[in-house]
Amino acid sequence: MERIENNEIMDIQDIILKVDNVSKSFKLIGNEELKVIDGLNLSIPKGKLIIIKGRSGSGKTTLLNILGALDAATSGEVTFMDRQYSLLSEEEKEYIRRYDMGFVFQSIALIPIMNAYENIDFVLRNAGFRDDRDGRIREVLSLVGLSDRITHYPAQLSGGEQQRTAIARAIAHRPKVVFADEPTGALDTSTGIVVVKLFKELIKREGITVIMTTHDEGLMDMADIVIRLGEN
Ligand SMILES: Nc1ncnc2c1ncn2[C@@H]1O[C@H](COP(=O)(O)OP(=O)(O)OP(=O)(O)O)[C@@H](O)[C@H]1O
Ligand SMILES: [Mg+2]
Repeated sequence: MERIENNEIMDIQDIILKVDNVSKSFKLIGNEELKVIDGLNLSIPKGKLIIIKGRSGSGKTTLLNILGALDAATSGEVTFMDRQYSLLSEEEKEYIRRYDMGFVFQSIALIPIMNAYENIDFVLRNAGFRDDRDGRIREVLSLVGLSDRITHYPAQLSGGEQQRTAIARAIAHRPKVVFADEPTGALDTSTGIVVVKLFKELIKREGITVIMTTHDEGLMDMADIVIRLGEN
């Protein structure tokens, strides 16, 4: 049994990501080391909204990259489902990222020459999505409230609409976990709340786990679990 921050008792099968004594240091010039994460332990349950908070430079992006197998911890272990990252090859990690994970970044990075529909179609093809692709694209665009923007190009969408398209794209292939680095960073708090509410709706409808970073205090109440980094 695991005990998590909000004092709910959880069965071990409910844990999707486990972090055991993870540290991360960056080597600087002149043999200096910068320790960004120091002996972190976490048990992240399935189907929840997790918010990582902390001041600028506290290691939020670093931690997200480690959880998403984009960067390796200096020491310690991360386990996704039953897969220990330290035992996986680059190819195996790439496979997990492509099929089981979705990513949303602050710089939204939609492909400018593709409309909303085509942006999502592109990642579905890339993930080898075999179900009804057209139906799924329309479904996720409807989930994020953009059924009437399907043929809009990124430049023809507002910032919030672009972010919602990026979220639709990150969940389209039915990942188990979505990582979102400052997904509300470019939005005002009220639009940010809309995005976080959308994540909560997706958690309910699709059973995914969402791990996001933010420093917007106005969003913390909406999290199931808040992970605080650095001194706050
Ligand atoms: N590749 C790297 N080499 C050296 N130092 C790094 C590297 N990547 C990050 N850092 C340092 O690690 C610290 C944490 O960086 P990180 O990007 O995780 O912070 P953050 O909490 O996401 O900040 P922000 O809120 O500004 O996005 C920073 O001080 C940064 O300068
Ligand atoms: Mg960051």
